[in-house]
Amino acid sequence: MTTTPNTSASSSTDAVTPPAAAGRRPAPSCTLVIFGAGGDLTKRLLMPALYNLAVDGLLDAGMKIVGVNHGEMETAAWSKDLKQSLDQFAADKASTFHAGKLDDAAWNWIAQRLQYMAGEFESDDVFNTLKQQIDSAGGGNVIFYLAVSSRFFKPIVERLGKAGLLKEGDNVFRRVVIEKPFGTDLASARDLNAHILTYAQESQIYRIDHFLGKDTVQSILAVRFANALFEPIWRREYIDQVQITAAETIGVEARGQFYEQTGAFRDMLPNHLFQLLGMVAMEPPNSFDAESVRNKKADIFDAMKPLHPDDVVFGQYEKGPAGVGYREEQDVAPNSTTETYAAARVFIDNWRWAGVPFYLRTGKRLKLRRTEISVQLKAVPYRLFRDTPVDQLVPNVLTLRIDPAHGTSFDFNVKVPGPVMQLGAVQSSFDYSNFFAERANVGYETLLYDCMLGDETLFQRADSIETSWAVVEDVLHPKGGAVPVHGYAAGSEGPAESDAMLARDGHTWRPLV
Ligand code: BG6
Repeated sequence: MTTTPNTSASSSTDAVTPPAAAGRRPAPSCTLVIFGAGGDLTKRLLMPALYNLAVDGLLDAGMKIVGVNHGEMETAAWSKDLKQSLDQFAADKASTFHAGKLDDAAWNWIAQRLQYMAGEFESDDVFNTLKQQIDSAGGGNVIFYLAVSSRFFKPIVERLGKAGLLKEGDNVFRRVVIEKPFGTDLASARDLNAHILTYAQESQIYRIDHFLGKDTVQSILAVRFANALFEPIWRREYIDQVQITAAETIGVEARGQFYEQTGAFRDMLPNHLFQLLGMVAMEPPNSFDAESVRNKKADIFDAMKPLHPDDVVFGQYEKGPAGVGYREEQDVAPNSTTETYAAARVFIDNWRWAGVPFYLRTGKRLKLRRTEISVQLKAVPYRLFRDTPVDQLVPNVLTLRIDPAHGTSFDFNVKVPGPVMQLGAVQSSFDYSNFFAERANVGYETLLYDCMLGDETLFQRADSIETSWAVVEDVLHPKGGAVPVHGYAAGSEGPAESDAMLARDGHTWRPLV
């Protein structure tokens, strides 16, 4: 057991670092510098995740957390503000964050390591101060977390580089974590990568796609590669289609300004949904080391056929059972043509997947919140069941449930008990909570912990980001005019045109029920 140095004026008796969770080693000592210390991401996700890591004893006693933001503020006030947010999340019974309780000892452990630093992201001062402070503490490992608007990515990395803050030494790492959106199309992503890589090595850059922080997403590889049942059928000979859904019930909330520029397609497709697709479609890697996994995923993005505008459907929610239309939302133009729904039909041009459609859809203000992947197998020959109505024969579907349910289900056919041969569709399902203790988890724990350990498996490499944008280039900059945006009622399952796209292939979306 390690004890922490008494670094804070608000010291308490609770400075003992808890023992690490079984089988896991604490991260190496480091300073985490968060740009955007006052922002939503810091309050809602980073601090709760750090708190959870502290509870699990996975942070080193020598850790420091420096929060940089515009505006003067005392560390004590920042700390109080963060604690208030954490208390609020804890009080929220539906929260995945320690619903109902907050452990004072764990919070004090974090609070003792906080330091607030006022500074403008585009002025040199704060970077010089940081350099002095880090050097006078003996240098050491530092993670710079860019929890800021994407327009600050370039200036911050540039200043970090110019101030000498990204220079690594023997056994000393300097890493930069960058949130999405990483560019808005191929040209901007290339430009951003080129700029960043002028000041840092690729191995120092940790590009986050928060979907990869979800246990249920990481489990896709476990389900595929740890079970002999799936691999033989995981190919075009047996799989008819794959559907990947990220349906949300929320609207744009207070993000109208951002969303007007972004839209559902850019916001979700070439990043989150492509990442899910990559996990489902990639070849088995030789090992779980970062490059093996990322190389196999990169192969999938390389093999994706560039999306044609005819292979996407855009929608925008209108007034409906779930509330007002998008155009009536705050900060949204009354004649906006921004899409709040996007569906795409994607093909992977390789040996395993040739001809298998991957249908992707996402949307705001849909009927249900549901993120899931459904792998539908081909039908059996009907001969044996010729006296049975064929529509009773359901296709086998393996569904990997990502959110809000966590688990898998499998649809298959059995004989209905009784004297005649009649088929009945059944579903066998598993929920993580039936087998494993629920863990408080906001989805950033693994990402932060991995970054401290230097494990890049779950982070996006420059080449894959660019290949993903390249796949959607013709949709973002169509030669024949913008992709039409169809209306759908708030609270519905999306625009009818999306159903029509699948109907052309003789397929239907899995209903959102
Ligand atoms: C974000 C998008 O990246 O992902 C949001 O910008 C979206 O618009 C969110 O709501 C969905 O993430 P999750 O984890 O809530 O499914």
